[in-house]
Amino acid sequence: MSGRSSRNASPLRGPFSNPSYTVNPMSIADEFHPVLHAGRVAVITGAANGIGRAAARELAKLGLKIALADVDETKLRVIGQELIELLGAQNVLIIPTDVSKLDQVVRLKDKVYDTWGEVAVLMNNAGIGIKGTSWEGIENWHKIFDVNLFGIVNVQHTFAPFMIHQENQAMIINTGSKQGITNPPGNSAYNAAKAAVKSLTEGLAHELRERPENNVTAHLFIPGWTWTGLAGDDGTDKPKPHGAWTAEETILYMFDKIRLGDFYILVPDNETKREVDQLRIMWGAADVAEGRPALSRWHKDYKPLFEEFVRDGMAALE
Ligand SMILES: NC(=O)c1ccc[n+]([C@@H]2O[C@H](COP(=O)([O-])OP(=O)(O)OC[C@H]3O[C@@H](n4cnc5c(N)ncnc54)[C@H](O)[C@@H]3O)[C@@H](O)[C@H]2O)c1
Repeated sequence: MSGRSSRNASPLRGPFSNPSYTVNPMSIADEFHPVLHAGRVAVITGAANGIGRAAARELAKLGLKIALADVDETKLRVIGQELIELLGAQNVLIIPTDVSKLDQVVRLKDKVYDTWGEVAVLMNNAGIGIKGTSWEGIENWHKIFDVNLFGIVNVQHTFAPFMIHQENQAMIINTGSKQGITNPPGNSAYNAAKAAVKSLTEGLAHELRERPENNVTAHLFIPGWTWTGLAGDDGTDKPKPHGAWTAEETILYMFDKIRLGDFYILVPDNETKREVDQLRIMWGAADVAEGRPALSRWHKDYKPLFEEFVRDGMAALE
């Protein structure tokens, strides 16, 4: 990795404490990056909607060639056509893919390597949010692990062996969730799958950096509350809740942090400042270290202590 100075976030962007992330019309094209630049190749899963689609649009603005993968063929073709108009048909691949099916992921990889011979950005992002609690929804548990965990495992196992032998620098971005770190009650299946994504991506980062002459970085992308299909945006005129960021804001923030070389990309939103997330994560880790009850943040005897901890933590920062 070269020095941090060349990876700095655009000086034209607002600081993260802004209520909403500043969308810079210059996008991410204003500084050179060895991976994020014209002519290189991006593969994005879950590209038909939400965060994946916003990533595809931003990378297309930079002039990368884009392979779009998703189970939703109809929406995939809509974004595919939009990108073809921007980049030309020779620079866009539209590949309907169910990431939970290894054979389909292998087909995706074959198509991309046969066409362009490399992958610079692998964005492992497809996800679903169906519910499974501790003793209900076992079918949903299987589905959510098949997509949110094994989808990522399938893609990583299929692409990484090729990416590590490429000459040029490359990156693998796995989409996790704050729910996989702080584990809020409500959807244990989703939380558990995303906790596993955190764990496997940390392992990936370590294994990559231990390789001699490693040229591939790993990143754990942890979106905040983002107004997408998963969060309730059904594509109608339903207004975005104030607390949520747009997919574009979340993606611009992510690429700024990627350019800094960050591994953990913890994205805020209009409801939760980064510092509050940090305090929540520290509290959760201290449950284990101090032997408190599980999820003490939501335990009646500990909730007031947690709230005091956050109040004090925020006051100390002022
Ligand atoms: N929106 C949020 O607030 C939020 C917060 C944290 C994490 N995330 C994560 O961000 C990622 C993107 O989700 P989003 O918010 O953009 O939701 P979204 O529903 O708008 O987009 C998800 C996309 O994944 C696709 N998909 C679902 N199953 C698939 C499969 N088996 N194979 C291929 N594609 C599949 C869907 O068709 C959809 O296009 C997910 O991993 C999600 O868990 C979202």
